[in-house]
Amino acid sequence: MNKLLLVAASCLVSLTTAGPFEGTGSQNVAHAPVRDGLRYAVSTHAIPMRKHDVTASMSHPAMHRRANLPVPLKNIYDVYYSIDLKVGNQTIAVSVDTGSSDTWMVQQPYECVSFWFDPAGEPDCGLGVGFKGNLSGGLLPDLPPFSRSYVDGTFVSGFYGVEDVSIGDITAHNQRLALVNYTYWHGDGQTSGLLGLAYPYLTSLDGADQNQPPYSPVFTTMWESRSIDPLFSIALSRSQEISGGTQQESYLALGGLPPVDVDEKTWAGTPIHGMRAVPQWGFDTDEKGMYIIKPDAFVLEKGGDGTDSGEVLVKNTTQIPILIDAGATLSYLPKGLVNELYAAFDPPAKYMSSGGLFYALCNATVPNFGVQIEESIFYMAKEDLLRQTARDPTGECRR
Ligand SMILES: *[C@@H]1O[C@H](CO)[C@@H](O)[C@H](O)[C@H]1NC(C)=O
Ligand SMILES: *[C@@H]1O[C@H](CO)[C@@H](O)[C@H](O)[C@H]1NC(C)=O
Ligand SMILES: *[C@@H]1O[C@H](CO)[C@@H](O)[C@H](O)[C@H]1NC(C)=O
Ligand SMILES: *[C@@H]1O[C@H](CO)[C@@H](O)[C@H](O)[C@H]1NC(C)=O
Ligand SMILES: *[C@@H]1O[C@H](CO)[C@@H](O)[C@H](O)[C@H]1NC(C)=O
Repeated sequence: MNKLLLVAASCLVSLTTAGPFEGTGSQNVAHAPVRDGLRYAVSTHAIPMRKHDVTASMSHPAMHRRANLPVPLKNIYDVYYSIDLKVGNQTIAVSVDTGSSDTWMVQQPYECVSFWFDPAGEPDCGLGVGFKGNLSGGLLPDLPPFSRSYVDGTFVSGFYGVEDVSIGDITAHNQRLALVNYTYWHGDGQTSGLLGLAYPYLTSLDGADQNQPPYSPVFTTMWESRSIDPLFSIALSRSQEISGGTQQESYLALGGLPPVDVDEKTWAGTPIHGMRAVPQWGFDTDEKGMYIIKPDAFVLEKGGDGTDSGEVLVKNTTQIPILIDAGATLSYLPKGLVNELYAAFDPPAKYMSSGGLFYALCNATVPNFGVQIEESIFYMAKEDLLRQTARDPTGECRR
């Protein structure tokens, strides 16, 4: 699900981090990467993330109305990464999102609404059991109500309160969070809210004038209280299957690196940019809000197997700002680049305006497509560029 906070409805450039990060589950990383003379340590606060696939959802009118995107967004097969939060003394499963900053969960009972007529009757927001009863820190009745819209057309509203929030053995004491009692959502039935891992600045974009005083999100509270170093990392695995004798696992690691083998050859660093970096958003600030980076290049290659390089067809070194959003399943890139990518399929993929997606023959040859950061190129998995499981009615493969 594209749980990218809708801060300014506009043409977004976003890249999912859901790459082929192969975790080994090993607790001993022999070669932790060194950068600027600093050896990044593996965190002792790494929490395995569950991965859920969600079946296809329909596009609906709200998406076009709320999200002023160039194409209608469709969730084909969503993948969520989720963890358990301890909220007071209750365990609440939430999706992990680096594209927003608020942490919220539904409070029982809540109202789920739908934008379109549902012949099945009751709308289903696909949310698990929410928070029950009262927050030990009480509510914050003087604040404006909590209200957020996301680019896939979902929204939540409710109110703020205060409670201790723990992830594994780290606690954000007296954390401001939101309880939601009115929502349109498309969930996996297993999570009841969202853990927002982006910067405090985004929390200020609330209320009618979008200029409330920002507050510290969960991760910020944790490092400000010196419970952890001011860094977190995420390892996303393709699957939870056993591969080569080792279990692939996904992690959220607080204060350090996840316990997976890191290939030093592909260890690269790049600055995080302020909100001004995406001109279409119209923010006149260098304040950091989301994890915006500017890769050194986008690379399109003929041949190559998605890990080894092939013959370079396109190397675009334009500094295109992209957003690292672990809560999104789709990648948004400039139209020109996308057209080049699909033209490089053999035979080329075709855009079908009816579906708003590109289709290619299932046996088409897929080019290498990668994002270059410093000297390392991170290729997208070929099975994500042409998905054998998502077919159009005539049997062609999607994207
Ligand atoms: C929650 O707080 C309200 C108002 O203070 C009170 O009436 C209610 O009994 C409380 N509910 C629980 C489950 O403690
Ligand atoms: C959980 O916390 C609430 C309020 O903080 C308290 O009333 C309740 O007894 C606690 N429940 C358990 C099982 O500890
Ligand atoms: C949600 O909670 C707020 C604050 O308690 C209340 O004013 C509002 O009526 C509730 N909305 C629904 C749909 O329950
Ligand atoms: C690189 O991509 C950007 C965005 O699509 C485009 O404006 C630019 O012309 C491209 N540059 C080259 C050299 O193709
Ligand atoms: C690829 O699939 C198409 C349609 O099913 C078929 O006509 C074509 O012969 C196949 N090409 C190869 C190289 O297998």
